Amino acid sequence: MVENFAALAARIAQLKKEKDAVILAHYYTTPEVQAVADFLGDSLALSVKAKDIEAKVILFAGVHFMAETAKVLSPDKKVFIPNPEAGCSLAESCDAEAFATFKAQYPDHLVVSYVNTTVGVKALTDICCTSSNALQVVESIPREQPIIFAPDRNLGGYIKRLTGRDNMVLWDGACHVHEQFSLEKILELKEKYPLAKVVVHPECKASVADVADYVGSTAGILAYCGKSEAQQFIVVTEAGILAEMRSKFPNKEFIPAPPIDSTCSCNECKYMKMVSLESIIACLENESPEITMDEQTRKAAERSIINMINIR
Ligand code: 13P
Ligand code: SF4
Repeated sequence: MVENFAALAARIAQLKKEKDAVILAHYYTTPEVQAVADFLGDSLALSVKAKDIEAKVILFAGVHFMAETAKVLSPDKKVFIPNPEAGCSLAESCDAEAFATFKAQYPDHLVVSYVNTTVGVKALTDICCTSSNALQVVESIPREQPIIFAPDRNLGGYIKRLTGRDNMVLWDGACHVHEQFSLEKILELKEKYPLAKVVVHPECKASVADVADYVGSTAGILAYCGKSEAQQFIVVTEAGILAEMRSKFPNKEFIPAPPIDSTCSCNECKYMKMVSLESIIACLENESPEITMDEQTRKAAERSIINMINIR
């Protein structure tokens, strides 16, 4: 935890009261940011929560597409993002204009998009999904209906393998954090910790998902580790989740899967780590940066997210 945590947290509490704000944070943010959040969750839980917030202001401690999703669902609220540079390599791998051209090639297909997309791509989407509910969303669609799945080729490929649906076309996008985990290093860890269970996020490559004991979203992984009798887990997702795992299950051991390149911290999402306590304070004090969007795009995007929420 940062040295002056208590003073910074006290200032944030004061500002939240003054501005009537709540802080939503994703599990991949730093432990100190998670500690000042009113609600901590995975992308599905955060989307659902954003819809029901009563406060006037939502400060989204996470990446840009998550704050955008909150604004789409809560247009009357002010939604702030502490660092507008906090993007997402996966969302950036799917440009709305290029996606519209791709979609035009498949006029009979229904579009399912992961929430890790810009509002422009959501506006071109029929049903959104997250890694928590992607299987449920795809299974809610009649088998004979062809589907475009965007933007993550790994999550899409995983769902395609699970459902055996050959009529799913995948957009060729990926997350730079989850794609870099190496099968060799995970196998080495498995040898070192033979009793450990391997838990994997579905944004990882198929070769990695194939050696998992459990594949699921961050919330799914947490729930699995809580229920499992195992005492050790090799965690193959962004390392920020370890803070919540260790605080929820202090008697279990969580071993982060290392990045391919051991000299970098590539198993951390650099965008999620751009949110700091200082940037939260500045954002609440200045009421900026604020998420804004045109109403027509917002309404189109809202439909795809509501369609997802209704499937839950
Ligand atoms: P979750 O759906 O598990 O929250 O994942 C979001 C994300 O950005 C994964 O990289
Ligand atoms: Fe995007 Fe990957 Fe970071 Fe998740 S971990 S927010 S998919 S860049």
